[in-house]
Amino acid sequence: MTRKAPEDLRSHRWLGVSDLRSFGHRARMRQGGFDAPDWQGKPVIGIINTWSDLNFCHTHLRARADDVKRGVLLGGGLPVELPAMSLSEPFMKPTTMLYRNMLAMETEELLRSHPIDGAILLGGCDKTTPGLIMGAISMGLPTIFVPAGPQLRGNWHGQVLGSGSDAWKYWDEKRAGRITEDDWADIEGGIARSFGTCMVMGTAATMMAIAEALGLSLPGASSIPAADSAHPRMCGQAGRRIVDMVWEDVTPQKILSVAAFDNAIRVHMAMGGSTNAIIHAVAMARRAGIPLDMNRFDQLSREVPVLANVRPSGKYLMEDFFYAGGLRALMAELKDVLDLSCMTVNGKTIGENIKGAEVYLPDVIHPLSDPISSEGATAVLTGNLAPRGCVMKPSAAEKRLLRHRGKVIAFEDYNHMAREVERDDLDVTADHILVLKNAGPKGGPGMPEWGMLPIPKKLVREGVRDMVRISDARMSGTSYGACILHVAPESFVGGPLALVETGDEIEIDVPARRIHLHVSDEELARRRAAWQQPAPRYPRGYGALYAEHTGQADDGCDFDFLAPLGPVPEPEIH
Ligand code: FES
Repeated sequence: MTRKAPEDLRSHRWLGVSDLRSFGHRARMRQGGFDAPDWQGKPVIGIINTWSDLNFCHTHLRARADDVKRGVLLGGGLPVELPAMSLSEPFMKPTTMLYRNMLAMETEELLRSHPIDGAILLGGCDKTTPGLIMGAISMGLPTIFVPAGPQLRGNWHGQVLGSGSDAWKYWDEKRAGRITEDDWADIEGGIARSFGTCMVMGTAATMMAIAEALGLSLPGASSIPAADSAHPRMCGQAGRRIVDMVWEDVTPQKILSVAAFDNAIRVHMAMGGSTNAIIHAVAMARRAGIPLDMNRFDQLSREVPVLANVRPSGKYLMEDFFYAGGLRALMAELKDVLDLSCMTVNGKTIGENIKGAEVYLPDVIHPLSDPISSEGATAVLTGNLAPRGCVMKPSAAEKRLLRHRGKVIAFEDYNHMAREVERDDLDVTADHILVLKNAGPKGGPGMPEWGMLPIPKKLVREGVRDMVRISDARMSGTSYGACILHVAPESFVGGPLALVETGDEIEIDVPARRIHLHVSDEELARRRAAWQQPAPRYPRGYGALYAEHTGQADDGCDFDFLAPLGPVPEPEIH
């Protein structure tokens, strides 16, 4: 393998040459307490850190950046930490998805505009993983994604609690009067016991696993609980390794391929991963110039069943998954269907990285011969209601609803829905289908996670816990139920969902991958002629920019101007 010479380093243009501009750069390095031996002939490693005081999934990333720095220094590089937008899933409104592309742009431009030779990406809370990776792919420097890792298990009165999933579950129990206010307060104190990401198989755990399966993280990294001492050790290893990756010029483009994305999608299926991953994987692949559409998820979901017995599809949590052997063990179970020749950031193939991996807790990671669910993790349905597709997670839905025809109750937007579901006199049965409009990429904007529409209060009291719900929104990976999401095109741009009215009938057939609105073409044409686009929610600012430039869900919701239209020039240094 040919290694770069020091003068080939990108940072050399800032720090290594002899002109007035580089004098200024070196003088400022000295202002920072550095001396020539700190930078001369050394790769500068940018640590893009999504730590924030309002993102408790990333509380430890401030300290972990120091672990990475230790590794970079030991490896012979110069670490520099660059803070980036944190995308705190619980706190950012209306939705972190609105800001994923902003983080992607920030990551790309932080790397481009500074004297950086290689990147360590510190993230994990939901959209931070795809945001960081999309930006790093577009920039094309050697990169390692360092996952924040999941929280420890939640606990309430000796019962295990899972992020999100148990919040929804016990909220319904409270609405039904089955638990007290004191119980609810105790659950609030026990459901998030440590730093780290949500510890069910939500979007965070799914995307961290996908990053590893793509080859962008060190082997086993994504499964390590944030509070485990293996986590800072992994950070130190990443710091050491990224320096070599710079010398070897191992860029994301040399790691990512059609086969790598197929591996990641198969892993996603075996994990019972979040539906959000479809949008993010499509967006990441497009940044790498790799064609991927959501039908590939559907194809592979028919080949790979769910093996990880982790909530919301299963029983355990990510801490258990780690003890069971983690992602290396799961990938070893899948070895016959993975492309083992794909390269990864440590310079080894997937096959080499999973060699010797074993499942220690077979009820947590099942073998292919005994999956936890024969239903795939993801189904892509199409029909006259969703010409460009919509998705659902059959493994997390009541089986009786996978083939269903019912009368619609339609809501024009989130506030309309939120009012109606609390009404005691709402004319609704468990066989009705709830439809939410104007919650898509442009209509939300940002596709908020409103897709698990609340079960109407009246039905909750009757013991109903699942019903068919359809929207152009997304759903939290910690959610569950017969929720049909990402309907494309969305209602805000006049997709067929916009034309649905209360009293219509919709039929879904998940095994046949069909969704059909039982309204005649003539009637739909009449409604279309009368339809008017709602006013945009944001008249100015980033929200307006987002709504103007975002693609639809099946396109990955990336901005049109961030598509790989050709190389972006390196900045002029003068
Ligand atoms: Fe951060 Fe769920 S809130 S991962």
